[in-house]
Amino acid sequence: MRAASTVLGADRWGAWERDGFVVLPGFVPPDRVESLRHRIDDLVAGYASQGLPDGAATVFSTTEQTHAQDNWFLTSADVIRPFFENGAFDADGNLVAPMDRALNKMGHALHDLDPAFDQFSRTTDLASLVAELGVTDPLLLQSMVIFKPPRIGGEVVCHCDHSFLWTDPQTVVGLWFALDDATVANGCMWAIPGGHVGGARTRFRLDGTGGTTTDVLDPTPYDHGDLVPVEAEAGTLVAFHGCLPHWSGANTSDRPRLAYTLHVIDGTAHYRADNWLQRGADLPLRGFA
Ligand code: FE2
Repeated sequence: MRAASTVLGADRWGAWERDGFVVLPGFVPPDRVESLRHRIDDLVAGYASQGLPDGAATVFSTTEQTHAQDNWFLTSADVIRPFFENGAFDADGNLVAPMDRALNKMGHALHDLDPAFDQFSRTTDLASLVAELGVTDPLLLQSMVIFKPPRIGGEVVCHCDHSFLWTDPQTVVGLWFALDDATVANGCMWAIPGGHVGGARTRFRLDGTGGTTTDVLDPTPYDHGDLVPVEAEAGTLVAFHGCLPHWSGANTSDRPRLAYTLHVIDGTAHYRADNWLQRGADLPLRGFA
């Protein structure tokens, strides 16, 4: 059921239903983009000056899945934790690049643990948009800063986010905020318009033995020829359906491509107990209030 709202308007509602995503340029005012960037700079500077905690020498790669069995990843639902690019460490676990060029992402509870991210993530405009997209009892499930550093940021293989955050029925909504101008050259997101209709083709889940596994529900590979670039100026919000196939290439440019993402689910749906992301009892999921 579509809620009354003025955020989308009829044209964009049509795009949402048809394409499975909608692009909202200028959704975030420049001063709020800037203040979040400052907060990210502070967190990165903290990692650089204070050193990394034990276990942090962990890469996040969707191409190699080296993180999948990694405790550092699987216990990050209710903390703020850094993840690194492939090749960020030498054989002794020492960083081989400056911190701001070595990070792949931070996650996954920024929006609940850091006041700056809490404020950025819980605005009335965002709550209105998510209601308009049909989420009746929104829960803010996970948040990430995606660094995609120049010359280093790697490919993210074509996937849909419902595969990782499964609800019955599917209610996952992705909210992707450009904090830099994202272009084809610096590895913007690409998506398959209308691809959300086909549902998730895989499911990544806990395997019951402390690791993870990926169930193949439909072995048909995504056709990369169907992908279209979703270029976005800083301050743009891209909202996308949990089953929308999306991909991004490596950042082969000299320009950074910083982004913030937030994923929302509907509390009326069933969130599976074998999803990888499980909050502890002391940090229950909250909505926009
Ligand atoms: Fe994704």
